[in-house]
Amino acid sequence: MLAIKNLHSSIGGSEILKGVNLDVLEGKVHALMGQNGSGKSTLAQTIMGHPSFEVTAGDIELNGTSILDMEPTERARAGIFLSFQYPSEVGGVNIASYLRLIYNKSHDAHLSPVKFREILKEKMEILRMKEDFLSRYLNDGFSGGEKKRMEMLQMLVLEPKLVILDEVDSGLDIDAVKIVSAAVQHLHEATRASILIITHYSRILKYIEPDFVHIMKDGLIAKTGGAELANELEEKGYAHIA
Ligand SMILES: Nc1ncnc2c1ncn2[C@@H]1O[C@H](COP(=O)(O)OP(=O)(O)OP(=O)(O)O)[C@@H](O)[C@H]1O
Ligand SMILES: [Mg+2]
Repeated sequence: MLAIKNLHSSIGGSEILKGVNLDVLEGKVHALMGQNGSGKSTLAQTIMGHPSFEVTAGDIELNGTSILDMEPTERARAGIFLSFQYPSEVGGVNIASYLRLIYNKSHDAHLSPVKFREILKEKMEILRMKEDFLSRYLNDGFSGGEKKRMEMLQMLVLEPKLVILDEVDSGLDIDAVKIVSAAVQHLHEATRASILIITHYSRILKYIEPDFVHIMKDGLIAKTGGAELANELEEKGYAHIA
């Protein structure tokens, strides 16, 4: 569904992605691993269309159509969701109103606050979130783990076709990793969404089993394998693998 072809991407004149080729298949789970600074977040940001990154060569196609000319909001509307490695705080934005807004936009719906609460309640149960969360402002004073859950709640509300998770598991306690994984798994099973999960640890991949594992090195996909590759990596380290 997402075809990345010979993608070159630069920031501030320095080339970070040096010809990435990657096919994210419909309804499949792909894990993306690799050492610090290898370009994983750059790839995620470039897919989403972050304005700081300049694509100098190659293409990104969603279901056969190039998305390079699309704004980030258009890419989101086309069904791509990126959960950030470092979510930002948005002061003064009420969570319940915000979520209803993005739900109505993404679903072409006009749900009332009462009707939307019913939908939201079910999704919050998956994430074991308490209802008093809804009266707070977006990410304002949230703990690291709460921010990540908030991101996952947005994901469940938007029901994207392609989910990119950038280190969603870092900084989470063991129970939270399970809960976040369950949310991703729920979406994956309910809608057959494709998942691209960037992680350093095979732990989360025990709960969301990948069909493919890709290892990035110096701005390139250096190796692709099955779920066993993540375990091999944990045992032997990067030097041995790539
Ligand atoms: N704004 C920027 N200005 C200059 N260099 C940048 C910028 N953003 C990223 N880079 C560089 O691009 C390279 C890749 O960074 P990126 O964040 O994509 O790595 P990563 O694989 O996600 O690493 P990590 O595992 O630590 O999250 C790094 O060398 C980084 O310093
Ligand atoms: Mg990163």
